[in-house]
Amino acid sequence: MIETIQWTEAGVVMIDQRRLPREQVFVTCRTYREVADAIRSMVIRGAPAIGVAAAMGVALGAREGADCEEVCATLAATRPTAVNLFWAIERMRRVWAGSRGDARTLIEEAQRIRLEDIAICQAIGRNGAALVPDGKMVLTHCNAGALATAGYGTALGVIRAAVSAGKKIEVLADETRPFLQGARLTAWELQHDGIPVKLITDNMAGHFLHSGRVGCVVVGADRIAANGDVANKIGTYSLAVLAKENGVAFYVAAPLSTLDLKTASGAEIPIEQRAASEVTHVFGVPVAPENVGVENPAFDVTPARYITAIVTERGIARAPYESSLRELAAERSAA
Ligand code: MRU
Repeated sequence: MIETIQWTEAGVVMIDQRRLPREQVFVTCRTYREVADAIRSMVIRGAPAIGVAAAMGVALGAREGADCEEVCATLAATRPTAVNLFWAIERMRRVWAGSRGDARTLIEEAQRIRLEDIAICQAIGRNGAALVPDGKMVLTHCNAGALATAGYGTALGVIRAAVSAGKKIEVLADETRPFLQGARLTAWELQHDGIPVKLITDNMAGHFLHSGRVGCVVVGADRIAANGDVANKIGTYSLAVLAKENGVAFYVAAPLSTLDLKTASGAEIPIEQRAASEVTHVFGVPVAPENVGVENPAFDVTPARYITAIVTERGIARAPYESSLRELAAERSAA
């Protein structure tokens, strides 16, 4: 399995996702500020992986003898949309208070969050595998794989589990402009595991969804509101509308730590705006006239009505999501 992130005595070791697939380079973050920089600059990305990184960042902060509020605020200010970041920081903040900042206790908690994340992804995979039609293509967007989590992945976890169950699947991976997580990461990760994958540009998705060759769409999530609206990588909403128009099932696979019951609907989810250069340049090469105006929202919101089901580690939620998601969340708190 690809090791996305690990705790070592030297610090937090992450594979540098900006340099994949051309180079496999590992970065060691020795301070919580270096972890914050790694999240902000997308050395590590993907909602669950960001959560694990933040937890390890808090543990580093305790080891450095830093102030808990300063550490948590610095990590929380990195990326606004993925709620797993805030979930992980809150969990670590409670452990910090309970242990009076004992570094060993916080390191153990961060390592526990990492291991739990892998187990959760495997459970999501088991729960979602049955939804994937045999002998068809599965369309995915961005990277919701091992690289976006501590391992195994959410959307790609469902695909991995379906393949392990013997289903004959070919993955269609959207390249996912502007940051190209689909081309650089999903295609690489699936090739690495020997899962058949074909890369398409984002604007080809409608063509394939209309062709009858796609059995379902499976994507991840950065934040799921209480009513089932889902924030995910920009372009997800267009896919969901196209899937509905063409009668193709649209599944979201995510851990319950991505569920934000305090946010009533997608309208309240903060959407990260990223640098214009991501749109005007490709690998540092300008593809647009100088000084052109740019919009670069990193995420969009898919209204719940387009989502066939949300696959979690505790089971599958279907509409009405207000009640089905709350029931799954209540089971989590009771467990
Ligand atoms: O900007 P990114 O690469 O962090 O965005 C990632 C996504 O949108 C993923 O689909 C989402 O975080 C789910 S990852 C399991």
